[in-house]
Amino acid sequence: MRSLIDIVDFTPTELDELIATACDIMENPAAYAERCRGKKLATLFFEPSTRTRLSFEAAMLELGGSVIGFSEANSSSAAKGESIADTAKTISCYADIIAMRHPKEGAPLVAAMNASVPVINAGDGGHCHPTQTLADLLTIYREKGRLSNLTVGFCGDLKFGRTVHSLIGALSRYDDIKVVLISPEELKLPSYVKKEVLQKNDIPYEQTTDLSSVMPKLDILYMTRVQRERFFNEEDYLRLKDSYILEPRKLQNAKSDLCIMHPLPRVNEISVAVDKDPRACYFKQVLNGKYMRMALILKLLEEATV
Ligand code: NCD
Repeated sequence: MRSLIDIVDFTPTELDELIATACDIMENPAAYAERCRGKKLATLFFEPSTRTRLSFEAAMLELGGSVIGFSEANSSSAAKGESIADTAKTISCYADIIAMRHPKEGAPLVAAMNASVPVINAGDGGHCHPTQTLADLLTIYREKGRLSNLTVGFCGDLKFGRTVHSLIGALSRYDDIKVVLISPEELKLPSYVKKEVLQKNDIPYEQTTDLSSVMPKLDILYMTRVQRERFFNEEDYLRLKDSYILEPRKLQNAKSDLCIMHPLPRVNEISVAVDKDPRACYFKQVLNGKYMRMALILKLLEEATV
């Protein structure tokens, strides 16, 4: 049974196919409006979410399917101590496909090993977030016309920011990618991502604490929220939360075709004054995410029935 737990579960060719499907859905939504008639998506969200859960729901509804699920752990039998494995076996009796978000790294993988329907990782702790990466890839593709030959800056909480880990994993398989890591010392990219992804794929990268010095070379600037919920103490969060605040004046030395991204929600990392800048792409990411989730649901359901 094919699931999507880590973005590298899909080959670059498969990602390109998903992008092509998403673009086709955008152009011909009516052709897809009945494709999942009679199918059910279960959204199992053990952690807060606005975009991911609702875009999965919107995606399934726009494909003609229906949605069941819960949006907090307390309203599920997890509160009674049920294991992920048992929950996955149970939901497999009700739904054709599962999207799961969980605070524990690896929980969606455990679900996939026990479910008899495809499982999509909708974010597992500070580990991965492959469907945000699908949104990000479509955004980069539509804005830049390519997924290769790019200098990509990641700024903010690179330690706990799961969207960063997944996007680096995806981009490291395209040609001529350079990565610039901008974070406070305490929030640097985990060494397992550096070793297993960047170094293994020979991706040139540099680390800095200073955003302004690297701004001129960036094609993409991927801002992130400091992940308060993953900190061990509040003082560290308060000290680090406003390390980087992107304001219009900080973009003065940036490329004219820079693409500014953020998986959202934002707190203070990007001032609202930047929203008017034509280089701001973060709300486009939201819309692109829905189309990529539609393409993903179609692919996994098709593969599950052959
Ligand atoms: C991200 C997440 O949940 O990891 N949000 C999202 O799904 N778009 C980013 C974040 O919470 O900071």
